[in-house]
Amino acid sequence: MKDSFGREINYLRVSLTDRCNLRCEYCMPGKGVDKLEHGDIMTLEDTYEVIKVFVDLGIDKIRFTGGEPLVRLGIVDLISKVSKLEGVREIAMTTNGILLEKYAKSLKEAGLTRVNISLDTLNKERYRDITRGGDLDKVLNGIKAAKEVGLTPLKINTVLIGGFNDDEIPSLIDLTRDDIDVRFIELMPIGEAAGFAKEKFIPSSRILEAVKDLIPVVAEDKFSPALYYKLPGAKGKVGIINPISCKFCKSCNRVRLTSTGLLKLCLHSNREIDLKKAFENKEDIKKIISDAILTKEEEHHLEDKEYISRNMNQIGG
Ligand code: GTP
Ligand code: 5AD
Ligand code: SF4
Repeated sequence: MKDSFGREINYLRVSLTDRCNLRCEYCMPGKGVDKLEHGDIMTLEDTYEVIKVFVDLGIDKIRFTGGEPLVRLGIVDLISKVSKLEGVREIAMTTNGILLEKYAKSLKEAGLTRVNISLDTLNKERYRDITRGGDLDKVLNGIKAAKEVGLTPLKINTVLIGGFNDDEIPSLIDLTRDDIDVRFIELMPIGEAAGFAKEKFIPSSRILEAVKDLIPVVAEDKFSPALYYKLPGAKGKVGIINPISCKFCKSCNRVRLTSTGLLKLCLHSNREIDLKKAFENKEDIKKIISDAILTKEEEHHLEDKEYISRNMNQIGG
């Protein structure tokens, strides 16, 4: 499927829940989120049917996100069904890793290709603080389990936060010696982070200043938002994702589906199309989706302070 700017859209990010077993300061309010009414969430059966339509239209990469996708019961079965659809090349997941030790093996068996794990610090106390209560050891065990069952290449996403983890850049980069990719993401002014993103913002150029011997390498996935580097002799790569200081909208290949069945054509736009309602009303959702793709925004306008109101946990990154 091509959008009206000639971009090939082949990547669907599906958020399965806005709930999470952590409360990261930049992502979720401390008190958690109001529980959505059961009827507001799309059932996994309907989610599967909608994914099937997207795959028919040419989507070949699907990523499950949250909140935390692994807190949604039934996810393993859904992955197993999606993996059997003809045309699906890759099924990935973005997770905080807390439940990965428990689920890695069944996810792999169900057909999940790989995982990206969110981890902002290697310090136990800091981890507990930023996540408001999380246990770092669980994530480290989850990473180990994911590697053991072959959910690879394994990527770690680290959000750069001034005064919090900027002193850990070298130690996080050291993880790449062990065949793990580590990607640093600039803090985006989304929802909960909109208020403090400016004062805690660290431009990703800081990475190259902190570790001088990084060598640029070419990414295999030309649509990846990350620029890649390597430490001499390391197996894994260091990625830098700078959605703020350098736009990658020109090569954007993705659309998003929220757990309430809203199609978001751009992460940074408030515009949403209700596919859940359309599906329940038996409307022609294939046509609704293909028409919607043609209205995908050309680029974001964060520089003009056009921030969306939703929190990241509702969209899934
Ligand atoms: P790969 O398939 O491994 O390349 O993963 P990915 O980067 O597509 O997915 P992931 O969930 O790991 O996303 C990492 C981060 O990249 C997200 O949290 C966002 O910060 C950022 N990101 C992903 N997609 C977009 C996008 O469309 N626009 C912007 N501005 N940022 C994005
Ligand atoms: N800015 C940048 N990244 C964010 N994430 C969540 N909120 C923000 C934000 N405001 C990241 C998570 C995860 C990914 C899906 O999005 O850490 O790695
Ligand atoms: Fe694409 Fe919108 Fe993200 Fe830009 S902000 S990369 S247009 S989804």
